[in-house]
Amino acid sequence: MSNLIEQNKILMTDEEFKLLSSLINEFCGLYYDSSKKFLLESRLSVRLKALNFRTFKEYYYYLKYDSKKNAEYDAIIDILTTNETYFFRETGQIKILVDEIIPELLKTNKRSIKIWSAASSSGEEPYTIAMELCEKNFDKMGLNIEIIATDISLRVLEQAKYGVYSQFSFRSANQMYLNKYFIKDGLKYRINDSIKKMVKFERFNLLDTFAYSKYTNIDVIFCRNVLIYFEDAIKKKVVDSLHKCLKQNGVLFLGHSESLFKFSVAFELKQFKNGLGYIKK
Ligand SMILES: C[S@@+](CC[C@H](N)C(=O)[O-])C[C@H]1O[C@@H](n2cnc3c(N)ncnc32)[C@H](O)[C@@H]1O
Repeated sequence: MSNLIEQNKILMTDEEFKLLSSLINEFCGLYYDSSKKFLLESRLSVRLKALNFRTFKEYYYYLKYDSKKNAEYDAIIDILTTNETYFFRETGQIKILVDEIIPELLKTNKRSIKIWSAASSSGEEPYTIAMELCEKNFDKMGLNIEIIATDISLRVLEQAKYGVYSQFSFRSANQMYLNKYFIKDGLKYRINDSIKKMVKFERFNLLDTFAYSKYTNIDVIFCRNVLIYFEDAIKKKVVDSLHKCLKQNGVLFLGHSESLFKFSVAFELKQFKNGLGYIKK
């Protein structure tokens, strides 16, 4: 049965679930197995109501064929993605960057360094990287440091560019960083312009294989806590694309619960002093 409406709630049939979950999976990689049907139903029903659709089938056709479908994908991405992040999350890898990788690169007389935070959410990760680079005075050495931060969600990118955070974003941060790099703004904290200027935010879908050509010669990629939302085949596709963006011996950092085991032999796992990273062979 389609067209089920119960107590003002629009119900999703199994067929509608299959159609919509595979459309979403193809577009952004998010994967919903049948146990997540109710989650998808409740999250997407907000959009059905906003657009006055009576069934999920109508919504499916809208997403597939309507001239305004791109704007609708933007809206559902904002609803469906998990954007959990905070300053100084999993800092071991950022320590590896500033204490081990950059000093090694400088020994080779390298004067420009390109870092990519490839699922940056609301900006806490790339801004943490920028603050740690400043702590080591790399910003004062006449180096050309580029920090590119990308995400698929326009909502979180707007938050990142705005650069104002509540106390919750600092649950792992030392007070010294708040005093030094933020200005109190009511109950919130606004990031200093000097740090803000170091990070360039852009929209990027990790599944968009052709768009990767924009990101070349990267020294270090942070792609943390996003592969967990993808199926194996998509993880592999993303990792292969990231591999092409890195320089020879460039480093890929994943989240603590993620690994390349099964997905790529084109990287070598390296134990640094402060954690693990994958080196492009
Ligand atoms: C849990 S957050 C991780 C943020 C940060 N890297 C960290 O570890 O704290 C995952 C982010 O991945 C983004 N994301 C999900 N699918 C994506 C895709 N296909 N392309 C780019 N970003 C995606 C989400 O919008 C979300 O902001």
